[in-house]
Amino acid sequence: MEKTLILIKPDGVKRGLVGEILQRFERRDVGITNLRLLTPTIEMIKEHYKEHVGKIFYQELLDYIMEGPIVAFVIEGNNVIKMARTMIGDKDPIKATPGTIRGDYGNSIRRNIIHASDGEASAEREMKIWFN
Ligand code: CDP
Ligand code: MG
Repeated sequence: MEKTLILIKPDGVKRGLVGEILQRFERRDVGITNLRLLTPTIEMIKEHYKEHVGKIFYQELLDYIMEGPIVAFVIEGNNVIKMARTMIGDKDPIKATPGTIRGDYGNSIRRNIIHASDGEASAEREMKIWFN
């Protein structure tokens, strides 16, 4: 059994995609173990995205993630880390396969609706930021 963190980013919440997205995960027959709607602090966002410090898009990424409330949840089940990454699709929705969340609802490499941890270490680290 694995656990991983999913975030529905501010654009996903604003556009009313929370129900759609939660339903996709529920239908994969995985457990949702934590769920919250929150407006994160800048400290949380900086910790979450610390691997991207110094990149050209870093400041714009912070501004975007601070735009409004986020829905954070944890799913648990067999291979959920890889499963969630497959379900969200490529970070660039133009390259994301139709049928993935980004491939179905996105159009912008920044405003790409959803986050899922990319490995075991990041899942452990990120779950602590959003659920402490
Ligand atoms: O989210 P994911 O792990 O798929 O991609 P990432 O490479 O870790 O980038 C993190 C987030 O930064 C993306 O999901 C985008 O929201 C944003 N980003 C951006 O604004 N501009 C880029 N050129 C690349 C990523
Ligand atoms: Mg990433």
